[in-house]
Amino acid sequence: VPGPSSADMARAFRSVRRDPLTFLTEVTERFGDTVAFPVPGAPAVLLNDPAHVRQVLQTSARNWSKQTVQYAALARVTGPGLLACAEPNWIKHRRLAAPVFHRRRLEAVGEQVRDAARTVLADHTPAAHSGSVVDVSPLMHRIGLDAVGRALFSSDLTASTERLLGASSGAAEFIVRLGRSVLPTAQWAPTRTNLRLRSVRRKLDAVATDIIAARRRTAAPSTPDFHGDDLLGLLIDSELTDVEIRDELITMVIAGHETVAAALSWTLMLLAEHTEIQDRMRAELGALGSPVSMLTPREQLPITRAAIDEALRLYPPAWAISRRSLAAERVGDIELPAGTLAIISPWLLHRRGESWPEPTQFRPERFIQGVPTSGYIPFGQGPRLCIGRDFALGEMLVVIGELLSSYRLDTPAGWTRPEPETLVAVHPRGGMPLRLTPADHH
Ligand code: HEM
Repeated sequence: VPGPSSADMARAFRSVRRDPLTFLTEVTERFGDTVAFPVPGAPAVLLNDPAHVRQVLQTSARNWSKQTVQYAALARVTGPGLLACAEPNWIKHRRLAAPVFHRRRLEAVGEQVRDAARTVLADHTPAAHSGSVVDVSPLMHRIGLDAVGRALFSSDLTASTERLLGASSGAAEFIVRLGRSVLPTAQWAPTRTNLRLRSVRRKLDAVATDIIAARRRTAAPSTPDFHGDDLLGLLIDSELTDVEIRDELITMVIAGHETVAAALSWTLMLLAEHTEIQDRMRAELGALGSPVSMLTPREQLPITRAAIDEALRLYPPAWAISRRSLAAERVGDIELPAGTLAIISPWLLHRRGESWPEPTQFRPERFIQGVPTSGYIPFGQGPRLCIGRDFALGEMLVVIGELLSSYRLDTPAGWTRPEPETLVAVHPRGGMPLRLTPADHH
């Protein structure tokens, strides 16, 4: 299998760390869809052919575990919660959490998500009459966190927002540093990192412990075994230990708001750049006659849904997914031994010229007919597909609906796109300053 030499990797070392997306793009341009990295021991391969990706994540998923450095790093912050844990524990956690993400339940939490969006927007956007430039990225983080808190834990996380946002962005940095080894120039964990990591984890633990204790206290005395039908209630009433409950809670806080915040920031950027699409969306949303809900069907919002899908194609927050094979397996023409590390990058797949004409252009029309079943994996694929997918898509719809009904978005003078920064999710480096003008302002 072709791939860079050890000398190439050594030369690329700095650029890999600063900008792994460009590095990955370059290696696929040079070596094709399957690239081997020179690492001692079991091979590490980048798989960028949609058929190979489907095999690893879906049809042959049982042979490809999450026992990778990426997930080990994540687990140092979240513990072995649903996102980071490998079989056999995984299925137990998945079944437990599943009812909370069911469509019926999403209908019920839609109003809470809308309230979260309204509260944050009201508190943090300008009442100004025209054209204030606002960094929307921290706003989207607040909304993401508030929505997770209200919808999954029926908790007002806003009291802990500063603590949580601080700790979780600290956590994101660490997971990245520890997990860079998704790419095989990977390193280590020096003492300073370990110490800071411990302090981040302690902060997250403290918030989680408070939330759990508060719920236990408020349980209705007449129903001693019932703590509520949100995720927190289900977890408390399950057989999970306190530590497992805390891990699950932290997993959901991190998995559930970083990604959505990043996705929303990039989507708003693309809409600010493409005001004609924004206008079509505003018209479509206006024609509904009532505020958009988490589950408003695609047929009623073709361009709005398509714009969200297209934004997730160009800027998939989860930019890398890793797996390790349990037994030898043939993928395409290659025989991969047991222990092979497979690296899959939604970012690369979504910008692959063979799959997408004019891959770097924002063209929502490509999704009007629906989303393809292959080569488009913003939420992963197969049994470990994102459990929060419908929640996230619904939340994006509601937040974008709220924003567009109040504001027109465009880019500030002298606009250049922020660079993508690969933390746990791909965030806009330095934030996302956009111009917000009240929609009814003439
Ligand atoms: C899994 C992306 C929102 C919770 C995943 C995976 C991806 C992903 C790619 C699969 C990882 C893999 O196979 O290695 C995203 C994106 C989101 C989003 C792009 C937003 C735009 C959410 C939300 C929640 C959530 C809102 C929870 C409230 C999870 C969990 C898993 C997961 C728990 C692990 C599921 C399992 O292994 O069974 N997500 N996610 N995600 N996501 Fe999301």
